[in-house]
Amino acid sequence: MKLDSIRREYRYAALTKQSVAASPIDQFKGWLNDAQQANVNDFSAMSLITAETGGFPQSRIVLLKDISADGFTFFTNYDSQKGKAIESNNKVGLHFFWPELERQVRIDGVAEKTSREVSVAYFNSRPLESQIAACASAQSSALTSRNKLEEQFKSLQNALDGEHPECPGNWGGYLVRPVRIEFWQGRENRLHDRIVFELVENDWKIKRLAP
Ligand SMILES: Cc1cc2nc3c(=O)[nH]c(=O)nc-3n(C[C@H](O)[C@H](O)[C@H](O)COP(=O)(O)O)c2cc1C
Repeated sequence: MKLDSIRREYRYAALTKQSVAASPIDQFKGWLNDAQQANVNDFSAMSLITAETGGFPQSRIVLLKDISADGFTFFTNYDSQKGKAIESNNKVGLHFFWPELERQVRIDGVAEKTSREVSVAYFNSRPLESQIAACASAQSSALTSRNKLEEQFKSLQNALDGEHPECPGNWGGYLVRPVRIEFWQGRENRLHDRIVFELVENDWKIKRLAP
């Protein structure tokens, strides 16, 4: 495959310090809404980047499940690789890319576990099969075979006999409190717009960066 000749112009929209919302959370909500309206597949999917001291940075996709003035929430297994990485360094990155809108958003923030109430409420809202899968899979641990995983799922499904499992203690949410949010809008001739919000003494400061 020849990649070096593949390129396109970005002309969908513009972003200025005047047009951006005063709050980066409001700006983010607007862009997320645009992504949904534009039928972007998995528009709420984001890369979660963790960095254990001395280790390689690690990135994986998770789904955004809530946004509030406090920050961005996703759910996972606390004993997973990402859970362990957050335990050792709770400074994380979140990264969204919506190709149809020629936009990306980069977030730096500090992750903390959500309350047990929030985790249980979300767990209980999930389909039964997803609940069983969360209980049956020791996420990120080595498996001897796929069969083993399916057996664990079936055996728990049979034991529950249609009942819902309790939210496991090692499963729940993380709230990422943002300290920096960058909005990137692709523009013509690679002169892209980059508007950054940085939290300075509880106030969001805005600046424009060179593309
Ligand atoms: C579209 C998509 C959505 C995903 N959503 C989640 C999620 O919300 N929570 C989660 O734990 N893993 C999710 N995953 C799986 C993760 O990318 C990853 O494989 C898993 O969490 C294990 O990561 P870790 O070993 O780095 O902890 C998703 C993957 C994809 C491709």
